[in-house]
Amino acid sequence: MTERIVLAYSGGLDTSVAIGWIGEATGAEVIAVAVDVGQGGESLETIRQRALGCGAVEAYVAEASDEFANEYCMPALKANALYQGHYPLVSAISRPVIVKHLVKAAREFGATTVAHGCTGKGNDQVRFEVGIQTLGPDLKCIAPVRDLALTRDKAIAFAEEKGLPIETTKKNPYSIDQNVWGRAVETGYLEDIWNAPTKDIYDYTATPEFPPAPDEVTISFEAGVPVAIDGVRVTPLQAIKDLNRRAGAQGIGRIDVVEDRLVGIKSREIYEAPGAMALITAHKHLEDITIEREQARFKATVGQRWSELVYDGQWFSPLKRSLDAFIEDTQRHVTGDIRMMLHGGQAIVNGRRSETSLYDFDLATYDTGDTFDQSMARGFIELWGMSAKVASGRDLRVAGQ
Ligand code: ARG
Repeated sequence: MTERIVLAYSGGLDTSVAIGWIGEATGAEVIAVAVDVGQGGESLETIRQRALGCGAVEAYVAEASDEFANEYCMPALKANALYQGHYPLVSAISRPVIVKHLVKAAREFGATTVAHGCTGKGNDQVRFEVGIQTLGPDLKCIAPVRDLALTRDKAIAFAEEKGLPIETTKKNPYSIDQNVWGRAVETGYLEDIWNAPTKDIYDYTATPEFPPAPDEVTISFEAGVPVAIDGVRVTPLQAIKDLNRRAGAQGIGRIDVVEDRLVGIKSREIYEAPGAMALITAHKHLEDITIEREQARFKATVGQRWSELVYDGQWFSPLKRSLDAFIEDTQRHVTGDIRMMLHGGQAIVNGRRSETSLYDFDLATYDTGDTFDQSMARGFIELWGMSAKVASGRDLRVAGQ
């Protein structure tokens, strides 16, 4: 029986050419699998037909946008996940859900190998292959760009020679990856890290310098998950899409960073994640009133570690799973409403309310009705500073000797 290879298919030039390229190099049949993670753009049926036109024996589209929102974006939101304090893990969280569907397709179509279009320099090859090793340990991995010398010029020449149904002339200097959680743009003149991004790079966000009228939004959360916007019930996917539109119109969520890739390279990336950044801001402010101080401080550290693990391709790892359990436990009382003003590139919280709030007006107030006994503070401070005071006494003594 002819060997079968499942290819993660995007519909772009590289993966379209990869279908025939893999076929020629290995003699295997290629099954193209496109996964819908809310990337928009072309219709998935168009993409499916193109895969068949490029020689795939089967082409299959996995509709995974709700699954992606519920099981990948929501955990990232609960973790307030920002790699290196900036990047909301747009591409990093999409790889594991794509892997899940690739492995499923490999089983269904009797494939022995999974292929992806990544280069040998990035994080995504790691995320795909570590994921595949974990979910399908018997499956082999192959990356035509990295392993079968499929360079860009060869891809264009191959497409023209075979008359593949794909555009080869339109020269897009950027490498773009997008889904409902955000969009990542790199390469081209952005590789000079002093060059400012030009307007044509952006798609999810309008220019924040010329914003429309301010847009006030109320987001309601239950156990850390957005459930309503301005009082209208929404699914996580709808919440993200709605805020992509509203925060995007205000130019919120543009990010320009040089980040540390797992493979040891520093690289410059432009992100736009209007919905994700608005949701993370709102969620964090709700946590501020509903999570106890020590738990909140520890959670910030856990969230950072969670982000690093996910960035580094460890989505299916035991440590990531354990951190999920911790984070989930902290979300029990993260229920309530956040009111936020979206305007001119910023999402600024201006109101919060929660039945499970720890904010105690009577303790906090400086007006009459204050229930806080200020006389307790003196003794507390005395004891709190005691050990440092004892140490500084010793330091003075030693210095004087
Ligand atoms: N640097 C990001 C990450 O490693 C995004 C990778 C994909 N970016 C792209 N422009 N194709 O998660």
